[in-house]
Amino acid sequence: MSNNSAVKNKEVNTDNKVPIFIMGKKYEVPASLTIQKALEYAGYQLIRGCGCRGGICGACGTVYRYPDSYRIEVGLACQTVVQPNMYITQIPFFPANKAVYDIEKLEPTGSTVAALYPEIFKCVGCGTCTRSCPMDIDVMDYIAKAIRGDIAGAAELSFDCVMCGLCTARCPAEEAQYNIGILTRRLYGRHIAKQAQHLKKAIENIKKGKFKSSLKKLMKMDLEGLKKIYNEREIEPDMAEENWEPADKTYIVV
Ligand code: SF4
Ligand code: SF4
Ligand code: FES
Repeated sequence: MSNNSAVKNKEVNTDNKVPIFIMGKKYEVPASLTIQKALEYAGYQLIRGCGCRGGICGACGTVYRYPDSYRIEVGLACQTVVQPNMYITQIPFFPANKAVYDIEKLEPTGSTVAALYPEIFKCVGCGTCTRSCPMDIDVMDYIAKAIRGDIAGAAELSFDCVMCGLCTARCPAEEAQYNIGILTRRLYGRHIAKQAQHLKKAIENIKKGKFKSSLKKLMKMDLEGLKKIYNEREIEPDMAEENWEPADKTYIVV
């Protein structure tokens, strides 16, 4: 994050302003802004700690406190609206323990998790991770499932993790919850989940070059043509049958 007074958001309602403190310095910013937009309004150019701006990438973990409270609060800067007199700072990349492994060679068991992240047994069950999570994930519970060797359960519970690191930043046992979570999801995806037969078939068809002519056709289209077919494409319904296929099969191989 660097300060650049040229970076101003001119399209916000600036009538109702509130004071906030960014790394100790006071700024007056529109009350309707998220922390992320307030940082930019104050003149900071976000070159780190900002990605999707939509609560998905987890890049914008932020720590803040209100002056009349001892509590350290955490949240995603792009999802948290400023409050009067909040003291704000962003956490940079969080250097949590990250095991290196070859997923092909691992067994989907609790012993695997324990071997790669032995500190998992230091969990004291305090629940701070769960209370810190901006995605409302029961982090403590997925850690408990990982300890018990319930890989599928831990994978499912941690599915919405955006890897922001806020749980790790607060954990008294210094767990790397999000790296443990992604390990369980990888173990589940590689060794437990049933293989999708249609995906296997699609890969075979790619290898056989069956998509080459439709790709050539797409590559010859102009931008407007591509936008049109993209916007008019058939989208698989949420509750589609296993063998759902679009009615228009121009670009797929069946
Ligand atoms: S914050 Fe750490 S010690 Fe506390 S429940 Fe979560 S993983 Fe366990
Ligand atoms: S589990 Fe941890 S890293 Fe994942 S979203 Fe929640 S707080 Fe962020
Ligand atoms: S910028 Fe991606 S979650 Fe906030």
